[in-house]
Amino acid sequence: MSAAPVDATSTAAWSRLSELGRDFAPDLRASFAEDPDRASRLTFTAADLYVDLSKNLVNDDVLDALLALADEVGLAARRDAMFAGEHINVTEDRAVLHTALRAPASASLTVDGQDAIADVHEVLDRVYAFATKVRSGEWTGVTGERIRTVVNIGIGGSDLGPVMAYEALAPYVMDGLECRFISNIDPTDAARTLQGLDPASTLFIVSSKTFGTLETLTNARLCKAWLLDGLAGQDASEAVAKHFVAVSTALDKVADFGIDPDNAFGFWDWVGGRYSLDSAIGTSLVVALGPERFAELLAGFHAMDEHFRTAPSASNVPVLMGLVNVWHHNFLGAATHAVLPYSQLLHRFPAYLQQLTMESNGKSVRWDGSPVTTETGEVFWGEPGTNGQHAFYQLIHQGTQLVPADFIAFANPAYPLTDGDVDVHELFLANFFAQTKALAFGKTADEVRAEGTDEAIVSARVFEGNRPTTSIMAPALTPGVLGQLIALYEHLTFVEGVVWGIDSFDQWGVELGKQLAQALTPAVGGDAGVLAEQDASTQALITYYRERRQ
Ligand code: F6P
Repeated sequence: MSAAPVDATSTAAWSRLSELGRDFAPDLRASFAEDPDRASRLTFTAADLYVDLSKNLVNDDVLDALLALADEVGLAARRDAMFAGEHINVTEDRAVLHTALRAPASASLTVDGQDAIADVHEVLDRVYAFATKVRSGEWTGVTGERIRTVVNIGIGGSDLGPVMAYEALAPYVMDGLECRFISNIDPTDAARTLQGLDPASTLFIVSSKTFGTLETLTNARLCKAWLLDGLAGQDASEAVAKHFVAVSTALDKVADFGIDPDNAFGFWDWVGGRYSLDSAIGTSLVVALGPERFAELLAGFHAMDEHFRTAPSASNVPVLMGLVNVWHHNFLGAATHAVLPYSQLLHRFPAYLQQLTMESNGKSVRWDGSPVTTETGEVFWGEPGTNGQHAFYQLIHQGTQLVPADFIAFANPAYPLTDGDVDVHELFLANFFAQTKALAFGKTADEVRAEGTDEAIVSARVFEGNRPTTSIMAPALTPGVLGQLIALYEHLTFVEGVVWGIDSFDQWGVELGKQLAQALTPAVGGDAGVLAEQDASTQALITYYRERRQ
């Protein structure tokens, strides 16, 4: 059992931060004018990432107090405990070792009597061998056709990571191979995803840590029926063996489903669902990208792990980003946090981060079961720029809420296109630079007037500025850089969780809805007795459904 968390709010650093926050009147124009080195002092590198924190609402006093807070809550010790495989997931009594998934084969780490890294590489080698066979055409469907489409069936962490990374790394996907993803139990998802596919050249990967998730098992059965229907005349068990593989920690349940355990890839209870993209849960990616590119992705994760593990706090990017988030959230009242990738390829990155951050830190009790002592868990959200600029940026620029935002961009485009002699990527990046500048420095009433604006609308056209942003840049969106970015957010989520004293690795909050859905299913199907046991609102909603269902 872990020691009780330090109550962050009772530390000297918290008192200092409260004092600093009380009359905090940020003025980024003045901060930059008074300190010509501000940008360089507050810009850090971590592996290939260049991270500019200078446009956040911080000064040296705030940063010093935040670093002192990290010391007082024992961040370094908790981080080391995580890397060492201690059971820091207290409520599930588990180690938290996603970092072992990307450790080099030469490393070793004994956890609960087992070399975790040796186990990781044994499975990785099997996944690589399988993917190589699919890519080369050696692995065929039951009729002898090569596989052209891989359908990953999974939800939450067994979906969001693979789909996000597949989209992000689209330029690296092998020609002639496509991945699709089915997650929702809304039958529309399976129906539309399967549309146009040829069963003879389709391979399904059923991805589920527990192999007990209703959505995934239902979708897997739908897909099995679709396959067998499309391959009528073929031996059913041979068809399943050639067209279904599984990824799970529960290999016994995989066998019960009818998937040959030889075609299953395992992982371990010390990998949380939302931290599992770099385990066998990434099998669809390995097939799409190839083992070499997947290994580059893992190396990117590992580079960020090493930075997080070894860099001094004052230049440790996940530590600094996590602490600055705490500052904005707990002391300046920012309830939400936007992530705005200037990369269309990262269009699923905010959705991925929503599970990572909110399933991890959306908690009201600490790891010893006591109530939290401060606000936890910002709402993460976002969309790629420039689309967001024409949708919700208005509120970020001129609304009454403080919305810290991370801007992410790459020096080199995946698709270098020109419009006449204009480099379109440059137009795109000009927007990235312009937005962070406008948010930080705004536009004063005098500047608006100087443009000849009618006095009646001057105030509507004023931008107060002092809207905090972090700019993250990298040379290009390679597999390695993607791994670094994901690990950066994993670790900053951990940092925030440690400050708040919460177990960032359980997710009990999703259980009640699952239980109630099961209990309500008979009522939805017409069981009057179960219907009568429900509250009035639920009864009326179910009745509405039953009366109108044709
Ligand atoms: O939504 C809860 C959750 O347990 C997530 O944490 C997990 O990623 C998802 O369900 C899917 O679970 P599984 O991989 O076990 O099917």
